[in-house]
Amino acid sequence: MKKIRAAVIGCGNISVMHLDSVNALDEVRLVGVCDIKKDKVQAVAESYSTSAYTDYREMFKKEKPDAVHLCLPHYLHTAVACDAFRAGIHVLSEKPMSIRYDEAVEAVELAEQLGVLYGVIFQCRYNTPSMLVKERITDGRLGAVRCGRSVLTWCRSDNYYSSSDWKGTWDKEGGGVIIDQAIHSLDLANWFIDSTPVKVQSSLHNRKHKIMTVEDSAEGLIEYENGCIFGFYAMNNYSVDEPIEIRLVCENGTVRLSYDEAVINYNDGTVETVTNSPQKIVSYSGGKSYWGTQHAVQINQFYQAVAGLEPLQISGREALKIQKIICDIYNNNDVRDRYVGCV
Ligand SMILES: NC(=O)c1ccc[n+]([C@@H]2O[C@H](COP(=O)([O-])OP(=O)(O)OC[C@H]3O[C@@H](n4cnc5c(N)ncnc54)[C@H](O)[C@@H]3O)[C@@H](O)[C@H]2O)c1
Repeated sequence: MKKIRAAVIGCGNISVMHLDSVNALDEVRLVGVCDIKKDKVQAVAESYSTSAYTDYREMFKKEKPDAVHLCLPHYLHTAVACDAFRAGIHVLSEKPMSIRYDEAVEAVELAEQLGVLYGVIFQCRYNTPSMLVKERITDGRLGAVRCGRSVLTWCRSDNYYSSSDWKGTWDKEGGGVIIDQAIHSLDLANWFIDSTPVKVQSSLHNRKHKIMTVEDSAEGLIEYENGCIFGFYAMNNYSVDEPIEIRLVCENGTVRLSYDEAVINYNDGTVETVTNSPQKIVSYSGGKSYWGTQHAVQINQFYQAVAGLEPLQISGREALKIQKIICDIYNNNDVRDRYVGCV
């Protein structure tokens, strides 16, 4: 059978999760990697036995990939995605799909118009505890979420920001702890609640990171059409990375969820507990523990969709839901003069 031709654009930190996941799939062949940094891309190309490019348009012409993975600074994601769509190439973008909601909508519409797939990475949805909670909400055992809250206390040092030429900037990262780190837990909560947000309020601050101007602390409230309310608190000026916590109060019970564990207390007194048992499709050759292990699962699902075997699960249209919330958090924040992120 003819293999699906894949390429990766952006060979920075996260790329290893994509490269190793692609390499593990028999039906997919890595035909090229691209990065504007020549030394970096050559080293990656060598270790994955593929071709190196510093210009993705040239790679599109020469390698004719069927699909590309975008592992780029946030502000480049939609522009490069749209170039790929126009070349008839399916796209799997890292989160966030954009730093602007209007650009994200345009990209989704273009992909749909051209009939190419647009996937966005939210790998935490594939953690065993997240999947169990979603199933119990949908099958009615827990029922709908009435209210909930999330807490994220992580450490992103000044060095994390000073070693990057785009992180910590409004124009390239689009914000701080919300758009980069808390996006995962806010996406999970929004996926569980499964209603339309009608009001988003927030306060953003930079309390500790002198090196950047974006927010390192945020709190707020999201109100949904079905009456559910969700409160969030996120900071990345903590000293360690604590497990995130999501609490949900549902019609028939309550949930305590972290990436590694879910504990469900039903109103009838029964308790259901699940710990994360990651599907080991691949052993990653690098990466950070807080990225989890589920990239390979989502990437496998994307290629099932590219092969026409399954519908795409986390599409660009699906990802627009959290993109809108993220942009609303920046737009509606109380300290607007200083913190105007994605629009
Ligand atoms: N899903 C997750 O848990 C997770 C974790 C980490 C990062 N990410 C996301 O992955 C993306 C990349 O993050 P990172 O930490 O790897 O960043 P990074 O800065 O380490 O890597 C980005 C790479 O893109 C390259 N680049 C910039 N402009 C380019 C262009 N025009 N063409 C080709 N290459 C170009 C840079 O040279 C750099 O090597 C971001 O969207 C980030 O939020 C997701």
